Amino acid sequence: MPRSSPQKNARPDRGTARKARRPSGPTGPAAEYEIEALSGLEGVAQEELSAVPGARDIRGGRFWFPGDPTRLTRLKGSVAVYRVKTFDVPRPKALLGHQQLGDLAAFLRPVIAYGGHQSFRLSAAGRESATMRRLAEELETSLGIPYHPEEGELLIRLRPTENPNRIPEPVEEKREAHWERSPEERPARRGQRGAAGRPGHSSAQAPEWPEEEELEPQPAPEPRFETGWDVLARLTPRPLSARAWRVCNMAGGLNATIAYAVFKLAGVRDADRIFNPMSGSGTLLIERDLLGPSMALVGVDTDPDAVRCAQQNIGAAKRTIEVAQVDALNTGLPPRSFDLIVADLPWGDAITVKGGNEALYTGFLKEMHRLCSRQGRMVVLTHELRLFERLMAEQDRWHAHELFQVYSGGHHPKAYLLSRV
Ligand SMILES: C[S@@+](CC[C@H](N)C(=O)[O-])C[C@H]1O[C@@H](n2cnc3c(N)ncnc32)[C@H](O)[C@@H]1O
Repeated sequence: MPRSSPQKNARPDRGTARKARRPSGPTGPAAEYEIEALSGLEGVAQEELSAVPGARDIRGGRFWFPGDPTRLTRLKGSVAVYRVKTFDVPRPKALLGHQQLGDLAAFLRPVIAYGGHQSFRLSAAGRESATMRRLAEELETSLGIPYHPEEGELLIRLRPTENPNRIPEPVEEKREAHWERSPEERPARRGQRGAAGRPGHSSAQAPEWPEEEELEPQPAPEPRFETGWDVLARLTPRPLSARAWRVCNMAGGLNATIAYAVFKLAGVRDADRIFNPMSGSGTLLIERDLLGPSMALVGVDTDPDAVRCAQQNIGAAKRTIEVAQVDALNTGLPPRSFDLIVADLPWGDAITVKGGNEALYTGFLKEMHRLCSRQGRMVVLTHELRLFERLMAEQDRWHAHELFQVYSGGHHPKAYLLSRV
């Protein structure tokens, strides 16, 4: 009988071995993270996250990711990404305990080693409290970087954990002390009931048992530790939305994550000829070019400083994009030159046209209708919501619907998607 070679038999099929060696995403021990998006753009940010290989167990903005987190710092729709850890403490003061402080520093050190942060700051309700001041002092010592309450690079956020699945500590003992009835007469306890007795509900809520109405009203039991505290440490010293290409800033410059959202929602197509009237510092142009090729990409602005600023940013981003000093209301370009027009319209005092906003918006809509191809589309970002919606209601050249409303820098601009009637 031929002798089988155990070594030969142990060797897996070559195809299988190759597959097994090639993991589908990054490897290494997984850690928990959370992305932060501008209010109104959470869906766009989460969709981008869901396409990141290795990101798993995604719940809202929270997820697990294995190994090196550099891929997460390249997310374009999020303003920040944080490493997260939940501490089983009833309140932040308990983080000052020896054990918890050691755990907190051990959690933060790898984030500093990764991001190279030179200082830190705390963000929490009661940031000025004695507890937070002591926590800052303790962390200065254990982390070896200074506390800068306003400008600290390592942003450490503290907030109560939200975990509806977590079962709270029982609080029955306190209640029982007030009950005068025999155990048989008592209503079933929470946790012993069926679906109606939902453990996890706050014990301070209105009673669910009719029998309790007969009892003397009792003060609600003291709130007990139910959920813990989350500590979030921002991976990068600057927000992700502060792009490396932005070497020139302009008042009214668009948050780059909004530009990303505009193009993700309007569609990124290689065949698009794209026009960005009123291009300012070039945010929309650069973010679009970074997303992929297009047939044409052109920006105009009447302000020569804005044109120079955009050109500097485009240079820093190592892109080649045409920007010219031209009036968007009177471009002289042939009709139907563009398939996608994106405009972040001026607002407030920035209006340059005689007749103010109304004249500017009216002239803009007319000229863009001329420049837009028959199947073309236009995205308008504006703070002048009432004016824009009135103008839309009064005209019959465009169909418009709202894409999103975002909260950014104290303003609530809206984005509308328009198509030619
Ligand atoms: C809200 S800012 C755009 C900001 C830009 N998205 C950015 O990220 O920097 C509006 C711009 O419109 C320009 N503008 C105003 N009227 C214009 C016109 N008629 N033609 C072209 N640009 C105009 C202003 O000079 C200003 O740069």
